[in-house]
Amino acid sequence: MKQKIALVTGASRGIGLAVAECLKKQGVKVLAPARQELDLLSESSIDSYLAGLKQPVDILVNNAGVNILGCLEELDDKVIEEMVQIDLLAPLRVVRPTCSRDGETKIRQNR
Ligand SMILES: NC(=O)c1ccc[n+]([C@@H]2O[C@H](COP(=O)([O-])OP(=O)(O)OC[C@H]3O[C@@H](n4cnc5c(N)ncnc54)[C@H](OP(=O)(O)O)[C@@H]3O)[C@@H](O)[C@H]2O)c1
Repeated sequence: MKQKIALVTGASRGIGLAVAECLKKQGVKVLAPARQELDLLSESSIDSYLAGLKQPVDILVNNAGVNILGCLEELDDKVIEEMVQIDLLAPLRVVRPTCSRDGETKIRQNR
């Protein structure tokens, strides 16, 4: 049987690392790019990482994220924009080219 391939974002630590290890134990080949390879704050980094994928992805775990807590009046616009980019726009940008056209790609969104 063909080995499944998973892309797990934010797998350097925390939940993403645990998910990546769990998938590996199940025989899945895991792509776990470090931030230097896939920086979700950078559209060009996302596009070039995805364009460089050699095989289609069977499982996408959109895990990377930031959780900045604080009073709204104390958060500056830049912090809010980065949160929206990493937690909302980047995952959507990763989903589009990663999904198979037949709807077979399994996507997990840690939100
Ligand atoms: N922990 C919870 O209780 C909880 C609850 C609900 C939802 N979540 C969500 O679940 C996900 C994982 O949570 P966690 O607690 O395991 O988080 P974490 O320990 O803070 O790890 C976050 C991961 O995201 C990566 N990341 C952050 N910004 C990035 C960027 N610009 N580009 C690429 N990667 C980036 C980090 O990479 P670096 O190592 O390079 O920083 C790290 O691997 C997050 O999306 C979080 O919001 C967590």
